[in-house]
Amino acid sequence: SLPVPNVQEIVKSDPLHVPERYLIKNQEDKPKGADHTCKLSSEIPTIDFSLLSRGHKEELTRLDLACKEWGFFQMVNHGVATEVLQGMKDAAAKFFELPVEEKNKVAMTSDDIQGYGHAYVVSEEQILDWSDLLFLIVYPSQYKKLKFWPTTPEEYKEAIEAYSIEVKRVGEELIRHISLIMGMEKDALLALHQELVQGVLVNYYPPCCMPEKVLGKSPHSDTSTITILMQEDNVTGLQIRKEGEWVPVKPIPNALVVNVGDVVEIWSNGKYKSVEHRAVTTESKARLSYATFLFPHDDVEVEPFDHMVESPGSLRMYKKVRYGDYLRQSLKRKMEGKAHTD
Ligand code: SIN
Ligand code: FE2
Repeated sequence: SLPVPNVQEIVKSDPLHVPERYLIKNQEDKPKGADHTCKLSSEIPTIDFSLLSRGHKEELTRLDLACKEWGFFQMVNHGVATEVLQGMKDAAAKFFELPVEEKNKVAMTSDDIQGYGHAYVVSEEQILDWSDLLFLIVYPSQYKKLKFWPTTPEEYKEAIEAYSIEVKRVGEELIRHISLIMGMEKDALLALHQELVQGVLVNYYPPCCMPEKVLGKSPHSDTSTITILMQEDNVTGLQIRKEGEWVPVKPIPNALVVNVGDVVEIWSNGKYKSVEHRAVTTESKARLSYATFLFPHDDVEVEPFDHMVESPGSLRMYKKVRYGDYLRQSLKRKMEGKAHTD
């Protein structure tokens, strides 16, 4: 990818100006306010993780409905200690406050997706996201590239590791329950991953003087099996696509937001949806978000399960694809989709 200025630095040097290449030209793409009122917002399902893991049948039914109708839910009672959540937030906040020279010590290189940087930059014309990021793979340990791990603040490594152990526990349990709602053995989906890969993407969205003219993150679906997102308690930014509207996902303190990714959509032949979402910015507050992606090993071949193609004669909605190829193709599509010039 091409070097682009860091958005945080742009805001620092001139908070009242937005460079042309960040401005959305298309009327329909322009965001409404971060937490504009929307009736659907209060209907986003909440799943109680502790009920699920104690085997409550109704909660499993609610999970099935949430994945089918929303592709998103708020997860409460997940048992991750507040200190662990806060530890991740504090370490990331400190990292983004560092001078740019310091952050650039772990800058993403052109041949890698890990590190500190800016996603999907391919051309001078493309409209850019109003955000910076830090992406690291945490598991399995042989994919870990320590050269991209911040050493300042000192506690970053420990904080992300403590957070990731917990998210792994919760994520694996969720994948077991997705196995169950698909009518399979509890451990079937986990086994199909060969190796469950886990990466943490920290998004940093600086405030913007024209929040209605830029996007923090443009619309996309996640290429993961599932994604587990931690939001800030006090700033709304995430919006999901539902019935033609952009529905804000208002933060619930201590809850984690979970969404179905493309892999589950393919396995389920489209019964469970990998829903499009985006992030908008606000005028006065920076926002950070922490997305953990759980996904299969590159060599896993992903295709709809026979038993999910409902009746004989029903269509198979997706072709078989090697996960590594799918991931690369979809990164490429994202880049091309965004490279419009009008
Ligand atoms: C993402 O989809 O990667 C980010 C969502 C968010 O910032 O809430
Ligand atoms: Fe996403």
